[in-house]
Amino acid sequence: MKPKVLVTRVIPDAGLKRIQQVCEADIWPEVMPPPYSVLKERARGVDGLLCLITDRVDGDLLDAIGPQLKVISQMAVGVDNIDLNAARVRQIPVGHTPGVLTEATADLAFALLLAAGRRLLESVEYIRAGKWRTWEPTTLLGADFSGATLGIVGLGRIGKAVARRAAGFDMRLLAYNPTMTADEAAAVHARLVDFDTLLRESDFISIHTPLTPQTRGLFNRDVLAKMKPTAILVNTARGPIVEMEALYNALTTGVIRAAALDVTDPEPLPPDSPLLSLPNLTIVPHIGSASVWTRDQMALMAAENLIAGVTGRPLPHAVSQ
Ligand code: DGY
Repeated sequence: MKPKVLVTRVIPDAGLKRIQQVCEADIWPEVMPPPYSVLKERARGVDGLLCLITDRVDGDLLDAIGPQLKVISQMAVGVDNIDLNAARVRQIPVGHTPGVLTEATADLAFALLLAAGRRLLESVEYIRAGKWRTWEPTTLLGADFSGATLGIVGLGRIGKAVARRAAGFDMRLLAYNPTMTADEAAAVHARLVDFDTLLRESDFISIHTPLTPQTRGLFNRDVLAKMKPTAILVNTARGPIVEMEALYNALTTGVIRAAALDVTDPEPLPPDSPLLSLPNLTIVPHIGSASVWTRDQMALMAAENLIAGVTGRPLPHAVSQ
């Protein structure tokens, strides 16, 4: 008999086809994720769960699924939606998809740095509003990149990939990463500094740290106030690392110049959120890993983890075994 699995969304065929070869797969067909209570019912009795960042996976859910559950396979690198401790005490391995989304996410972070720095959103709006009448010497002036300082918060895989891109733009690089050696940072031409120095000296700040109890709300009112008034903040990591209300206040009172977010808190923002109407805030809908090759690889890795788990083998890409 094939192992039973629940896949909480339609994922790229690259992964889905592999799963269907080996497992009896129940695939949640809707665009919106299954509500938590529905997930609990639907997952009851499965051997494997393939979930996304939009699914809350906690002890209650794992108990509802039952003791036969052999693996949680997340199609993402970040696993802050999963209670890892609840999985560990129940001896359920958790898999994720590190590495394959590094370059795509770094590309998007850099796209957002450029978009916010060179005011692309405002420029498009300017044309759409019929305001473009001639070449104007003092209109829509943005930030310079060459020679500017980029501060990277979290110099892991994605942070380093952003650093490599920044080097091509002749930027000076600072990094804040409490668990890294200066030599490792120097390998990507970044100088490790303390958090306050990074805030004080950076013209651009890009966030690449996971969401943890330590990083939740890291960019609050006091921290934003330490940035340059001309600085630009980009977040492609997790929404709750930046306090939304503090960011709104900072952007509307000139505490910082502009920001760009791939991630928000909550996600999505309510349609009437005042953040959505700010000219100096660019928001895109959590598309860091949204390139064709990347999503195929993520689906494939998640499938490999799921299949390994339900067939009793170690996960090839494990957060915890
Ligand atoms: C991740 O993988 O954690 C991203 O946020 C979604 O690709």
